[in-house]
Amino acid sequence: MVLTRRQMLQAAVAAGMPFAMGASSVKRRPPTSSTPFQVPMPIPAVLRPSHRSATTDYYDLDIQTARAEILRGRPVPVITFNGKFPGPTIHAHAGRRTIVRQHNKLSEEANVHLHGGVVSQDNDGLPMDVIAPGTSRTYVYPNSQVAASLWYHDHAHHLESEHVYRGLAGFYLLSDAHEQRLSLPEGPYDVPIMIRDAELAPDGSLVYDEDDFFGRTTILVNGKPQPYFRVAARKYRFRLLNGANLRPFELNLSTGDEFVQIGSDRGLLETPWRTTMIPLSPAERADVIVDFSRYPLGTQVVLRNSLFATDTTTDVMRFDVVRPAPDRSRIPERLATLPLLQAPSVTRKFTLLMDPAQMMGTINGKPFDMNRIDTVVKYGASEVWEITNINTDGAPHNFHVHLVDFRVLDINGRPPDPGQTGLKDTVRVMPGETVRILTTFDFQYTGTYVYHCHMMDHSSMGLMAQLRIDK
Ligand code: C2O
Ligand code: CU
Repeated sequence: MVLTRRQMLQAAVAAGMPFAMGASSVKRRPPTSSTPFQVPMPIPAVLRPSHRSATTDYYDLDIQTARAEILRGRPVPVITFNGKFPGPTIHAHAGRRTIVRQHNKLSEEANVHLHGGVVSQDNDGLPMDVIAPGTSRTYVYPNSQVAASLWYHDHAHHLESEHVYRGLAGFYLLSDAHEQRLSLPEGPYDVPIMIRDAELAPDGSLVYDEDDFFGRTTILVNGKPQPYFRVAARKYRFRLLNGANLRPFELNLSTGDEFVQIGSDRGLLETPWRTTMIPLSPAERADVIVDFSRYPLGTQVVLRNSLFATDTTTDVMRFDVVRPAPDRSRIPERLATLPLLQAPSVTRKFTLLMDPAQMMGTINGKPFDMNRIDTVVKYGASEVWEITNINTDGAPHNFHVHLVDFRVLDINGRPPDPGQTGLKDTVRVMPGETVRILTTFDFQYTGTYVYHCHMMDHSSMGLMAQLRIDK
């Protein structure tokens, strides 16, 4: 179903959803993106190490303002890693360290969090652990975890939301020997795709209005509005990442055909999951294979969104099948062996609430406080966390925990789809939903980390809390 913005507001009012009626939704301009599929989708460049040793790849990144052509021919200010919107892709390999020196060339604080990385507290880019303007900071990533599509982004408290919105995000693709033996599509046929929304001013510049879900009516893919991507008639692996601040997606192909999902946030699924719909809330990743050999040359397949979709947010991008190509890749029926679920010894409950009237987000009734530890966990303990979205105005949330991965046990008492049963670090929690997750806190490190809603406007307004893992 495709709703215009007006119909959606009417539906929202009828359903008593003040979520749709925030003060900022009044002064709408018409969307400025015009016809879809006018520009090619860029693939973010792979960052080259500044130096390599026997054990480590060293990188340098500048956190800097730059100009990017979001709309063709109109360079506009953005905030970037190395001038790129989105940032360059870092390739890493399990067992080999990555060390990234970040130079903050902004006139305000920034920092960098490796989302999904198993890293020590000092290297996590926690909200209060920031890089002062004009200084540098080195982050060490041991890469002692399984292959996964990770990403890096700013996390400086109260600034992260606008920083990420304006461009401080990039892919971090971690491979390992097991994954490399699987013969999945690789090289030019393994493509990262970052999907987000934005509000564009008539001059093509990014408008950041806090918590303004309905104002962000332009879909950007790898930084360009509703692009096309020319593909060969063979299998591709797409690393789908929801890089939006607030918008959850439900993705499908215009042909009605299936994706083969092979991975989620923190690695490969046990077995491929064939599905026509990929749900993706902010920060979630889905690795999917799409086989274009089933289409005659000349076929155009649109990647579509069906969740909160209006006339400008339904079409995400288009794949144009333009040439034949050999294909030796395959999709094994067994992809990975996941760790057994441990019996939990503790159950905790968390409620997520965003109060738009107060512009305040809370977990269990409390906004983020750097001086308060909200949850203390014993290293090695297995715990069930029961997370409930208590917004009554229709606002979605999701839930991300740093350091650990977790398994989704159930959603409102029902088992999750197979695509959600792998290793996760972010899970969506739609209005009225209760999601139960299970994790064992044995991810090499003790210390203080955070958990939060990854709708970054929400976390920046307090929907975040602190976790301490003690020996
Ligand atoms: Cu994507 Cu707290 O992180
Ligand atoms: Cu939220």
